[in-house]
Amino acid sequence: MGAIMIKTAADVVWAVLAGRPSEPVGAEGEAFAASNIALCKYWGKRNEALNLPVTSSLSMSLGKLGSHVRLRHGGTVDRVTLNGTALEAESGFVRRVSCFLDLFRPQSGDGFDVDARNTVPTAAGFASSASGFAALVLALNRYFGWSLSPRDLSILARLGSGSACRSVFDGFVEWHAGCADDGMDSFAEPLGVQWPELRIALLVLTDAEKGVGSRVAMQRTVTTSALYSGWPRQVADDLRVLRAALTAHDLATLGCVAERNALAMHATMMAADPPVLYWLPDSVRAMRQVWALRSAGVPVYFTMDAGPNVKLLYLDEDESAIVEAFAGDRLVRPHR
Ligand code: PMV
Repeated sequence: MGAIMIKTAADVVWAVLAGRPSEPVGAEGEAFAASNIALCKYWGKRNEALNLPVTSSLSMSLGKLGSHVRLRHGGTVDRVTLNGTALEAESGFVRRVSCFLDLFRPQSGDGFDVDARNTVPTAAGFASSASGFAALVLALNRYFGWSLSPRDLSILARLGSGSACRSVFDGFVEWHAGCADDGMDSFAEPLGVQWPELRIALLVLTDAEKGVGSRVAMQRTVTTSALYSGWPRQVADDLRVLRAALTAHDLATLGCVAERNALAMHATMMAADPPVLYWLPDSVRAMRQVWALRSAGVPVYFTMDAGPNVKLLYLDEDESAIVEAFAGDRLVRPHR
């Protein structure tokens, strides 16, 4: 980046888009991005303004579950429709989208019409913000005809929501934390591992909006939790083992590491001040059910994000055993 000092999200956008078109090439831009679930979590930022993480993280995508975004030139203000419903301009969601779009307006006062459709339950710990911001960046790229590289698209998506940088890609993806102050080395990349038999299922225990968003919970954990100092070491170990387990198609290792990584993340936030506890009685029941199933010989594992819902990891050959065991619950299976 030479002499350019990059301190804000606008600086990053300026650097990435240098020399690219600033006027739309067509009437609209449309894109889909799959949601992703981390097997090794991103938890904690080293730079809030640029969404730079303390550690790297690793995820798998949810295939056809994600966000469709269609973007057009609008009036003088942004209009956002989510799943067919026009949202209030003052809603937190619209403000967040508008703030992000501020980075890309040809002129201030140019509004966008954004039509977003989620095929995952919104804001219930199923990473709809990840797929939403990734799809928005992919749609902007088409609308303006930027022809950006996947790496640059990942950097832009990161500015909307950290985990969105992983949703630019399908399959198994690693987000490299990077170490540069400007974050130009903090982007996601596919691992190139094929493992179609690995399944993830979402156990929807509640679709209520969570009380504390991940951004606040993360920041509070980093600044107040005595357990946070151990997190980077845990991640370094977990990432190494996960990469090898993915290459070897070793579910037992992958599942155990994903479980302990999720539990360690929740432990750090439970030790924050004030504490953040996303678990509901049903979340604990589901985790114990996974362990009971494993003791009974069914290889199933879980992970959890910043919310009460639980995600199950297993192989396709065990699908019917899983469906039977969780018959009383709502199970979303993206790869069916
Ligand atoms: O990208 P954010 O700000 O929504 O944070 C996501 C954090 C977790 O979902 C809990 C972990 C992860 O890596 O996706």
